[in-house]
Amino acid sequence: MLFYYTATGNCLYVAKMMEENPKSIPQELKKAKLEYKDDIIGIVAPIYAGELPKTVRRFIGSAKFEANYFYMILTYGNRDSVAGIWSYNYCYSNGIDMNYIQTIKMVDNYLPAFDMEEQIAMDKKEDEQIKIAIENIQKRVHFIPSPTKEGIAAYKMVSQRFHEHPEMNNGESIIMSNRCVGCQICKQVCPIGNIKVIDGKAKRKNKVCDFCLACVHHCPFQAIDLVTDKNPKARYRHFGITLKDIVKSNDQGEKEL
Ligand SMILES: Cc1cc2nc3c(=O)[nH]c(=O)nc-3n(C[C@H](O)[C@H](O)[C@H](O)COP(=O)(O)O)c2cc1C
Ligand code: SF4
Ligand code: SF4
Repeated sequence: MLFYYTATGNCLYVAKMMEENPKSIPQELKKAKLEYKDDIIGIVAPIYAGELPKTVRRFIGSAKFEANYFYMILTYGNRDSVAGIWSYNYCYSNGIDMNYIQTIKMVDNYLPAFDMEEQIAMDKKEDEQIKIAIENIQKRVHFIPSPTKEGIAAYKMVSQRFHEHPEMNNGESIIMSNRCVGCQICKQVCPIGNIKVIDGKAKRKNKVCDFCLACVHHCPFQAIDLVTDKNPKARYRHFGITLKDIVKSNDQGEKEL
């Protein structure tokens, strides 16, 4: 059994390479009872500021798992920081003793700092990394990455930056522009159901959200702006993942927050 959370498709791509029918965390969270039992259970999630996205934390905190082997794959774009040990500790404090954690470097979808044209042009050899992770999981390898000096320094730097500028990490820097044509796509790709289209214009219910950037990346009219945007013309979706896949993963219907 494998769970995933995705905004731009990296984690879904990894999850699909590992299992035929991985389960979307935003869809699972709609269920009243979150109890899972299997021989092997895995979670694929992106690294956000060296930690886990809020919705992934909510899932881990509210579900009950029973497995003989538990693994986590963390995708990232630039620095995996202390995400391995941070996630291990977070899972442990929620009753899961993780056996294997692997980080996988892919396109960095964090628009305030990265140009998607440059990111897409880089070959980060993601398939090779995924292959190694799959082999290790098949062999039931036990491995939790130890924090490195560089990782700790990167985590401290990012934590300080987001402490001073929380809007760069919490959704407050998203601007819904009047270029919106009301197509509803941003609403359908938001994993927490935070967007509504009212009188033909998309509006966010709460200014603070996961800041997953799915709405910004997938808007076909580039009608969602960011206060800081490295290249406002460049957006990203993983080459192996369709918009339909993202909608299927994240659509929350008419859910009220
Ligand atoms: C809010 C936010 C914070 C991020 N923080 C980090 C980070 O600390 N280190 C890193 O290397 N990548 C970071 N990223 C990049 C993503 O982890 C990476 O692109 C991931 O593979 C995206 O997965 P997805 O396509 O499944 O959404 C961040 C992205 C976002 C949106
Ligand atoms: S995806 Fe873009 S154009 Fe479509 S409703 Fe959302 S903001 Fe408007
Ligand atoms: S509003 Fe946009 S950035 Fe915030 S959680 Fe929804 S899709 Fe992600």
